[in-house]
Amino acid sequence: MKVFLQTFGCQMNLADSEEMFAHLHARGAQRALSPDEADVILVNTCTVREHAEHRAVSFLGRLAKWKQQKPGRRIIFAGCAAQRLGEGLKKEFPFLDLVSGAKKIDDFGRLLDASGLFPPQQETLPPQQEGLTGYVTIMRGCDFRCTYCIVPSVRGPVKCLPAQEILQQTAQKAAQGAKEIMLLGQTVNAYKDGDVSFADLLNRVSEVPGVERVRFMSPHPAYITPDFLAAVRHNPKIARHIHLPIQSGSTKVLQEMKRGYTRQMLLEKLAALQECGITVSTDIIVGFPTETEQDFEDTLTLVDKARFFAAYCFKYSPRQGTPAAQMPQLGQDVLEQRLDILLNKVRDLSALAYAQQVGTRQQVLMEEENKGRSSNNFWVKTAKNYKIGSIVDVEIARADGTLLFAKE
Ligand code: SAH
Ligand code: SF4
Ligand code: F3S
Repeated sequence: MKVFLQTFGCQMNLADSEEMFAHLHARGAQRALSPDEADVILVNTCTVREHAEHRAVSFLGRLAKWKQQKPGRRIIFAGCAAQRLGEGLKKEFPFLDLVSGAKKIDDFGRLLDASGLFPPQQETLPPQQEGLTGYVTIMRGCDFRCTYCIVPSVRGPVKCLPAQEILQQTAQKAAQGAKEIMLLGQTVNAYKDGDVSFADLLNRVSEVPGVERVRFMSPHPAYITPDFLAAVRHNPKIARHIHLPIQSGSTKVLQEMKRGYTRQMLLEKLAALQECGITVSTDIIVGFPTETEQDFEDTLTLVDKARFFAAYCFKYSPRQGTPAAQMPQLGQDVLEQRLDILLNKVRDLSALAYAQQVGTRQQVLMEEENKGRSSNNFWVKTAKNYKIGSIVDVEIARADGTLLFAKE
């Protein structure tokens, strides 16, 4: 049995796909590199914006033909869109074999067995960790209620994994060659297990033998605490890059989004991060229902001040059942106009951030023989060749677009 994984959505979904694959692997499955050679396609889906759900569902629609081409083929529809749309999908897509929503991830093995469509579980080793980065999910779900967001309803409340289990998984991935560990969760820095805080966890994970660097995604600004900043300052293995979604630069909109912080608080936190040498990338939503021209201006001026490494910009998309979807909506033309203006502003952020690195010294984790990533997440090309997985200390000689060149 060969399984092709088609994943939409965020890093959490990518990690979930691997976790679901591990259950299939324990039932004799191998990985397929294309749908053509696959007996099973696992579609792991996203519903954060209407467009994301639409992509997942139209992908499913196109699988009707794939399924007919060979008898015995199976389709599993999993993840956030599957959670929202539920078993009802089978009416529209009668060829669909199994629906497994994002809340069912812990139950996936049992679901496979209950379907009677897959061989029983055997004693097998888990699939091998591939590449230099080991992804470890440390918490699932979200306890915030941002008024635009569907994630809490499809993923449920926060559940943190026991620290012991996270350290075990880290050790396993490090033993299989991971040098960098990426901790994952919807509000990853809200992590807590008894008296183990997120800052404690970062330190403990970085002490696992073989781990050279620790990253995490996605943190929430409310949990950028003095405790966290202290951990960063004292622990060079914590990466000097953070992806911190801000959503808006207007205090009024942030309040209506129920984000739990103001523009002023953001500016203070961004300054504190910069002081630790951390580069920041972000997510921004334009056209939230109550966003005025002045609110949008506030976002633009914040972007100017913040010197983001990159900014992913989204047009607000109403999601059924969320409070913001009930508010009077702005016209699509306003959303497009604002997105256009913002995109023009952020287009050159990355190149600018790269240019500012010239003259600094960086520790580069080699992902290829002559190319790697610095702790603050820039791509660096080295003059000499090095062993993949090693860390080299270099001086940045020049920048060309989104690539830095080192002199050693
Ligand atoms: N948990 C993360 C983000 C998860 S969703 C956090 O809280 O920061 C990823 C991104 O999608 C968000 O940062 C936001 O910018 C965007 N997003 C979420 N809901 C959206 C919606 N209804 N319309 C447009 N963008 C949305
Ligand atoms: Fe959605 Fe807000 Fe939770 Fe992020 S913190 S997943 S944006 S509700
Ligand atoms: Fe999408 Fe679910 Fe991630 S809605 S962004 S795949 S948590």
